[in-house]
Amino acid sequence: MDFDRYDRIRAVQWQGDHLRLLDQRLLPQEERWIDCASAAQVTQAIKDLAVRGAPAIGIAAAWGVVLAARQGEPLDAALAMLRAARPTAVNLMWALDRMKARIAAGADAAALEREAQAIQDEDLAANRHMGELGAALIAPHSGVLTHCNTGSLATAGFGTALGVIRAGVASGRIAQVYAGETRPWQQGARLTMWELVRDGIPAKLIADSAASHLMRSGEVQWVIVGADRIAANGDTANKIGTYQLAIAARHHGVKFMVVAPSSTVDMATASGEDIEIELRDATELLAVAGRRTVVEGAEAWNPVFDVTPAALIDAIVTEKGVIERPTPQAMQAMFGR
Ligand code: MRU
Repeated sequence: MDFDRYDRIRAVQWQGDHLRLLDQRLLPQEERWIDCASAAQVTQAIKDLAVRGAPAIGIAAAWGVVLAARQGEPLDAALAMLRAARPTAVNLMWALDRMKARIAAGADAAALEREAQAIQDEDLAANRHMGELGAALIAPHSGVLTHCNTGSLATAGFGTALGVIRAGVASGRIAQVYAGETRPWQQGARLTMWELVRDGIPAKLIADSAASHLMRSGEVQWVIVGADRIAANGDTANKIGTYQLAIAARHHGVKFMVVAPSSTVDMATASGEDIEIELRDATELLAVAGRRTVVEGAEAWNPVFDVTPAALIDAIVTEKGVIERPTPQAMQAMFGR
């Protein structure tokens, strides 16, 4: 695998005394970096989606704890503030729990810095391994559909679902990629397409509403998505619209793959019913690129994640291995707590 060709974007960068984030709200028009010097600034960047994607949120939050420690802030308050930034992606809570355990063990700011760096490094290694595992499931010359952004921007690098796509393209298993726009925030249109075009990967954008029609055409053999939280029974929360893709995939005989590091697996949550789904401001739906498109006075409902039942998932790929047709027993055997 030629990682130099397919793995060049680093959106979360520790600079020794502050955290530098590639502002995902401005892509693809503008590549502007934000410098965060405090846990409060990192929290705000997570809330505002300047940094987004489950693993990237967890990594940024870990660096937020380092910033709080370096400034002598009360760490319990910093942990609580960061934890409340967004509710659905469990990587945030997982990373903060790791930092909290180090704090409880007496770690100083330098030791916390090493822990945050380990969280970031382990994520990159997991993604590269998952790329190989996931790509191995795909027959040569396949077409795939992905949703949201799961690439280098959403992780320490390489990506989860997009990592499998990168590995699949590099190994000749994937010949054509389709990416859904991912309304309302358009992570697919703005971010995934940016990554795919930079890599020279053959990719076509589709409207989210074109997915079933695409599947019926026979052009895609797999839907490949990331995850924000995988419950103990395999139910998977991911970007809004994922669930309808899984339903359509099953109807059309298209396989459905979830790719996520084990930091996204939440064995303390029994099923998808127990996952909190983030509701964001209606303005994200009522406007496009900041310009209102809907009549004044209109209301909107804006849940930004949904839950795909385990029964609709053909494979969950983590760095620990692949679970085909997930069951609570198989999840327990791989991730038992
Ligand atoms: O609201 P976002 O952009 O943070 O949502 C991101 C997603 O849903 C991704 O698909 C998920 O985090 C997996 S990213 C590797």
